[in-house]
Amino acid sequence: MSKSLENPKVFNQTNSIIEGWYWALQSHELKRGQVKHAEIMGKKLAIFRGKDNKVRAFDAFCPHMGAHLAEGKVEGNELRCFFHHWKYSADGELNDIPCRKHAQNVSAKVETYPIEESFGLIWIWTGKTAKRGLPYAPELKDFDTDSMLGKPYVKECHPNVMMINAIDAHHFSSVHKLPVNLELIPNVIDQNTIEFSNITKVPESSLLTRFIGLFYNGPLTYSLCYHNATTGTVTLGPDFLHFYIMFAIRSNEKGQAEGQTVLLTKKRKGILGKVFNSIILRATRIVGNYFAKGDTEVFKTINFKFKTPIREDYPIIKFIQHAEKQETCNWGYAKKVDAQSIDANQLNFINQLLNHSSEINTKLETENTEQ
Ligand code: FES
Ligand SMILES: [Fe+2]
Repeated sequence: MSKSLENPKVFNQTNSIIEGWYWALQSHELKRGQVKHAEIMGKKLAIFRGKDNKVRAFDAFCPHMGAHLAEGKVEGNELRCFFHHWKYSADGELNDIPCRKHAQNVSAKVETYPIEESFGLIWIWTGKTAKRGLPYAPELKDFDTDSMLGKPYVKECHPNVMMINAIDAHHFSSVHKLPVNLELIPNVIDQNTIEFSNITKVPESSLLTRFIGLFYNGPLTYSLCYHNATTGTVTLGPDFLHFYIMFAIRSNEKGQAEGQTVLLTKKRKGILGKVFNSIILRATRIVGNYFAKGDTEVFKTINFKFKTPIREDYPIIKFIQHAEKQETCNWGYAKKVDAQSIDANQLNFINQLLNHSSEINTKLETENTEQ
């Protein structure tokens, strides 16, 4: 593999932000009538919750003189600047200048951004108009869910580097001592969504694996679904009960990963359903923490350079290839990567990944037919 594999334009690049949904705040942190400072990947925002309980995201600075709007006050579903009391509607339109009778002849507008709430989190879209729905767990896509949040955390590496950890099957045995070898096969769901699923069965090599095998009819369930390469949902567990763990991760100006874990389960009815779900979500959190813990030290010191990919790294190569194809945006400290500016070196990089992947694909196919 050439040195160009070490120089992607989007993957692991703090200054390239893929346009998409990113977690902003935990919902309970923003009460009705409250406005808060937020800085999401270098972009300063005033996020507020109106009387109608809806959340809105405004560019932080007042178009009058630049006061931070989070110093202001929520009035109904509108926001009034602290400094000279100009007031902006829910859509960011200036509609009141108290020292004047009519604001109409002054034109000013605050930039607003798409914002939604789901799984106890407030999500923001890094652009003018949201082009797709929020991240999801594939098996729960059409169901109501119950959720629980983990504690937000910060790691010393780019979000992409954390993301690939979940499909780095190679380290499951070395770090996490998993007694099963996983083979993760990619499936492109759409342009921004890719899923990797295990196809191997639990071997009958020991008492432990024979016991584990009792809970799986087919292959051991382990899959990861990625949305804009920055939010991933793991699905795992025995056939009779699947666990879902969502990792929502954004970068910051120091090149770190700011993560938020969400534990998910299908909504269940009645008091018993509530109690059951509360137990399941707590158990899911333990599973999530267990996996996250093993890698803590690596993420403190890693200087990610993919210098020597091998066959077992195939899912990671596919992930990088997927990330490189995502649309980036102007946001905070990041500049849009212009497709036109992708230089010869970069094209070379993508081509090599493609070649390498098809080489591995062929190998996989041959192995599967030989089995
Ligand atoms: S700076 Fe906001 S009203 Fe003057
Ligand atoms: Fe890990």
